[in-house]
Amino acid sequence: MNPITLVSLLSDGNFHSGSELGRALGVSRTAVWKSLSLLSGFGLEVESVKGRGYRLSRPIELLDQDRIMAGIDPDKKDGLSLHLAPEVDSTNTAVSNIERSGERYTVLLAEKQTAGRGRRGRQWVSPFGQNLYISVRFDLQGGPEALAGLSLVAGLAVADALQFLSIPELALKWPNDVLAEGRKLAGILVELQGEATTGWTVVVGVGLNHSMEADQSELIDQPWTSLAEYSDCGRNKCAAALITSLVLKFDEFQLAGFGPFRERWMAFDFFSGKSVQLLDGSLSGQAGGVDAAGNLLIETVAGTKTVNAGEVSVRAG
Ligand code: BTN
Repeated sequence: MNPITLVSLLSDGNFHSGSELGRALGVSRTAVWKSLSLLSGFGLEVESVKGRGYRLSRPIELLDQDRIMAGIDPDKKDGLSLHLAPEVDSTNTAVSNIERSGERYTVLLAEKQTAGRGRRGRQWVSPFGQNLYISVRFDLQGGPEALAGLSLVAGLAVADALQFLSIPELALKWPNDVLAEGRKLAGILVELQGEATTGWTVVVGVGLNHSMEADQSELIDQPWTSLAEYSDCGRNKCAAALITSLVLKFDEFQLAGFGPFRERWMAFDFFSGKSVQLLDGSLSGQAGGVDAAGNLLIETVAGTKTVNAGEVSVRAG
């Protein structure tokens, strides 16, 4: 029995008796009981009350292919293939292994990642059913210059998709962390295959904290927040909005690069006007936005410096 089918029966948070679940799944109560015990492997807590049955300690909205497809802008559905998985190591890795069938954008969402990756070798905490883990694969023509600003555009796509949800202090921390009230709401990991001569296969991975439980805090080394703190946008609706926004931006990016996005990106610029420094201590000054290739500009005593990689922090005082 697919444990996801069992989770979907329990996802409403109501009690369901063993025999009711068995009937719905066409299996014995013993088989139900065995499957219920597997759910803890997904990090799901099942309560069992004599005479009432079983329920999830916390209801979840499972990802649903039809609901996500229905929410994607009709103009953006052509050339897009959408895949859902209960559990993968990393959606960025798994999307690369999906066979192509002529689509322009291959999109994979998973309920859980066992080895979610963040930038700079960090892990991305990815519990079952609480957040969104999305990877989009597409091809990009051109040499290294064709990639300039791509990761910023991905961040802008996420911010644009969220901006109608009245999230306070929604901002982009260069290059592409999405923040709400200074705390991390979403992160983006861009990975590439291919060569400068033949073009690129790009994988853009987005992790959006949707309704992450507080007990995950001990695994996360920075201030974070979840969308559910600010909005009741469900996971499927939110996933559809994110996918639409990403595909819209990537279409535009392929035509004209980062230049046309620059002003829109700077409207979300978290560092704007702040005193900043590179974490390796090599540079400090006042943040002055980004250039047409997506590099961070820092005004220093020795003039404007361009930063294209590295961790930047806000300087105290
Ligand atoms: C960051 O460090 O801010 C980037 C986090 C990126 C996480 C997403 S979740 C979907 C995709 N799969 C991964 O393994 N990582 C990205």
